[in-house]
Amino acid sequence: MTIKDRRFIFQELRSVEGYIDPPDALVFKALLQAQTKSALSGGIAEIGVYYGRSYFLLRKFAQSQEKVLGVDLFDLDPPQDGSLDQYERLMENGRRLGFTMDRDLIIKGDSTRLTPDDITSRIGPTRFFSIDGGHHLHHVLADAKLAMEVIAPHGIIVFDDTFNPAWPEVTVGVADFLRTHGHSLVCFGMTKYKTYVCHREFHSIYAQAIAIDPDLQALAHVETQFLGAKVVRLHNPMRRRVMYELMVRSGLGGFSERIYRSKVKQVKEGVAST
Ligand SMILES: C[S@@+](CC[C@H](N)C(=O)[O-])C[C@H]1O[C@@H](n2cnc3c(N)ncnc32)[C@H](O)[C@@H]1O
Repeated sequence: MTIKDRRFIFQELRSVEGYIDPPDALVFKALLQAQTKSALSGGIAEIGVYYGRSYFLLRKFAQSQEKVLGVDLFDLDPPQDGSLDQYERLMENGRRLGFTMDRDLIIKGDSTRLTPDDITSRIGPTRFFSIDGGHHLHHVLADAKLAMEVIAPHGIIVFDDTFNPAWPEVTVGVADFLRTHGHSLVCFGMTKYKTYVCHREFHSIYAQAIAIDPDLQALAHVETQFLGAKVVRLHNPMRRRVMYELMVRSGLGGFSERIYRSKVKQVKEGVAST
């Protein structure tokens, strides 16, 4: 990874309030770069942009001709002090990070009411679709169906907050979705927070992209099974997560990325430690 890309992931993105953590940021980068390398192009979309932390990561690794669409309700209460509301803060964050912000590519509204044409008319078939909007069952099912209908044959769908006890319906929704569409869609990757899905034909390509990406070697790669598919689960030990947070909070953000450089021993199925 270039120094600039490292600085973007570990420092600039942290200036945007939000939720994607380093392992998933590195997986997004690895998959987007693997697609680009194999000429698997297309639009990129995210439901649930909040203030743009993962949206700007997608922008960073999109090709210049590719469009990145963001969808959000943008209904968070405006700050009492009269400062920018959620939508304008997203726009401001984008400009500050050096991105051109096109209002036609930021949809303000309920994702469950979107049609496939709302997406494809703006960005064409999608190569990477991140779902991080409403976390109840009907949201997840609607967003997953929408994503399935707009992805290219090589498209990837990423679900956030899977297996998080705080959002049990996300897990149910993703399992229901995969059990209904398992003839064509399968899981190939998992992290503590996200589940990565693609068409069966691309399973080995994306599993391999994760397996060999040099920037993911600091994480343990654990082979597991999920609904009939072999999955690479990236395990990030608790001690590293704690150390990373401590460094960031004590103003050592610039050094924190070093924690994600060290190589750990590869482990096979069944690693139990957190
Ligand atoms: C957890 S935040 C997303 C975090 C973001 N991806 C990041 O990187 O920081 C969830 C977002 O989903 C949005 N949201 C919730 N329900 C939605 C819906 N039905 N349609 C569109 N957006 C929705 C919320 O407004 C909120 O901004």
